[in-house]
Amino acid sequence: MRLLLFLLCQMVISALFFHLYNYKLTSLPSEEKPKPVHVLILSSWRSGSSFVGQVFGQHPNVFYLMEPAWHVWMSFPESTAVKLGMAVRDLVRSIFHCDMDVFDAYMQPGPRKQSSLFQWETSRALCSPPACNVVPQGRIISHAHCKILCNQQPFEMVEKACQSHSHVVLKEVRFFSLKSLYPLLRDPSLNLYIVHLVRDPRAVFSSREHTTSELMIDSRIVLGEKWQRAQKEDWPYQVMQTICKSHQEIFEATKRLPKALQQRYLLVRYEDLVRDPQNQTQRMYDFVGLKFLPQLQTWVQNITQGKGMGKHAFHTGSRNALNVSQAWRWTLPFHKVTQLQKVCSDAMDLLGYYQVSSEQEQRNLSLDVLSTRPLYQQDYHEG
Ligand SMILES: *[C@@H]1O[C@H](CO)[C@@H](O)[C@H](O)[C@H]1NC(C)=O
Ligand SMILES: *[C@@H]1O[C@H](CO)[C@@H](O)[C@H](O)[C@H]1NC(C)=O
Ligand SMILES: *[C@@H]1O[C@H](CO)[C@@H](O)[C@H](O)[C@H]1NC(C)=O
Ligand SMILES: *[C@@H]1O[C@H](CO)[C@@H](O)[C@H](O)[C@H]1NC(C)=O
Repeated sequence: MRLLLFLLCQMVISALFFHLYNYKLTSLPSEEKPKPVHVLILSSWRSGSSFVGQVFGQHPNVFYLMEPAWHVWMSFPESTAVKLGMAVRDLVRSIFHCDMDVFDAYMQPGPRKQSSLFQWETSRALCSPPACNVVPQGRIISHAHCKILCNQQPFEMVEKACQSHSHVVLKEVRFFSLKSLYPLLRDPSLNLYIVHLVRDPRAVFSSREHTTSELMIDSRIVLGEKWQRAQKEDWPYQVMQTICKSHQEIFEATKRLPKALQQRYLLVRYEDLVRDPQNQTQRMYDFVGLKFLPQLQTWVQNITQGKGMGKHAFHTGSRNALNVSQAWRWTLPFHKVTQLQKVCSDAMDLLGYYQVSSEQEQRNLSLDVLSTRPLYQQDYHEG
């Protein structure tokens, strides 16, 4: 019965889509290449986005870049997230079109290498042909090897690599609303899918505590004018409040999108991914039309269990990812948890993270703080 309903839904949606895009389909010359797929992984710092980025980045059909907007933010460290929002959006749009001249505005003049890009070695596409001939296409790549062997490639290779893949995937932590992305979602020259990755704010907070200095410039830009006014002890909570609010805003805004555009949004909770990496990866790949190849299945298996060369993507050392995702429950003092739950309560309710009301509850790992109710319409379609 549910299957029937699901199929019916799909038919209606397909019909709608066909109707909407009919004029374009018929006007396409038949020899034209299939339209590239553009994927934006929308997330925040310390939310497992490096791992999700890797899941896409290691796929042989994907050209991946990690946090290209880092270049924008680091060029204007005194600015604010709001002021830089449009520049970030235009950068992302240009990269989706494989137009890498856009980086001229944010890099030193003169000749540059592909290694001028932030975290370039996390992109398998920049480590294999046509960008670099060291590792054969389709092989899982170690970042360390790529960094040594491919760092002399000229910057022009980035554009070449981008153009030779069917999927362009960008991971960004520097978007704070969906509104600035509407024009990209509606842009007929793009084919944009959004993967929205969220994580329990208590786990994010706990993880950020160990990286405060690394994240200092970013935190300043996130807080904007509030930076001056707030007490130093409150900064971490204020940053989290802004991050929580932005996730809430993005999630709520998708529900107001036209149905056809809602199909282009996928919510992924890091905790669900960690509990069932194979199925959740399958779900993300299905969403953007990628095949879950056997070598990638093994790789996902390996790194989520802290084995194999990809283990650092999860920052887990030898411990397993599931355990690490719960670390805040014994490392974070209860008074911090309380304060954090206060500033993030709306986002937590919305995204299915239960609050704990005592230290006993916090430390009791038999008590699951993850809601299993469906959070989004698309979740009803499964099973
Ligand atoms: C993954 O999905 C399959 C088929 O949909 C299901 O049988 C299996 O139980 C799921 N695995 C987990 C760990 O939930
Ligand atoms: C997975 O781990 C095994 C054992 O450590 C290793 O032999 C294999 O190469 C790894 N595979 C991938 C794709 O990472
Ligand atoms: C999880 O991590 C905690 C703290 O590091 C440790 O005490 C516990 O034994 C770990 N549990 C598992 C199942 O690895
Ligand atoms: C821990 O939580 C479980 C599940 O809610 C509950 O049954 C158990 O009594 C709790 N244990 C303690 C020590 O509070």
